[in-house]
Amino acid sequence: MDLLLLADPSKEMIEKYLESGQCYTLEVNNETVGVYVLMPVSAGVIEIMNIAVAEKEQGKGLGKQLLAHAIEQARKQGFKQVQIGTGNSSIGQLALYQKCGFRITKIERGFFTDNYEEEIIENGIICRDMLRLVMEL
Ligand code: COA
Repeated sequence: MDLLLLADPSKEMIEKYLESGQCYTLEVNNETVGVYVLMPVSAGVIEIMNIAVAEKEQGKGLGKQLLAHAIEQARKQGFKQVQIGTGNSSIGQLALYQKCGFRITKIERGFFTDNYEEEIIENGIICRDMLRLVMEL
């Protein structure tokens, strides 16, 4: 849960998607250092609901490995598209997802300001809108 909370400040939302999602963890020396959650959202479409790497292990390529694993799982399970969403202020995540081949497809304006009680600020930017990215498999 500590790792999942790095990517999503709402424990309530996390518990909701853990009920029907598939949660994968990455262990190094018996320590869980990475996690992601996949959840089917519509016919042929699966979403990466959460992805996180422990702070001390970030920047070492583990996030890219987790994304590659998630895409492989989606493909193996016969899905045709993988989706991922991130905030307008999540500059590093937007870079990472595009480097891995995801393309921005739509913006859900006000998603974070409408659904989260606490204001989120990253990189000096208020997180208001959800950017949706997709990869066709
Ligand atoms: N501009 C350009 N590229 C950037 C960047 C920026 N501002 N910030 C990060 N990147 C790139 C890195 O250069 C690297 O690409 P490269 O290998 O081509 O150099 C890539 O993004 C990061 O790769 P990696 O080391 O595999 O990522 P990571 O292990 O640090 O994991 C997260 C990435 C997002 C999972 C991790 O930072 C994390 O857990 N963050 C907190 C939780 C979170 O925000 N989750 C996502 C919610 S939408």
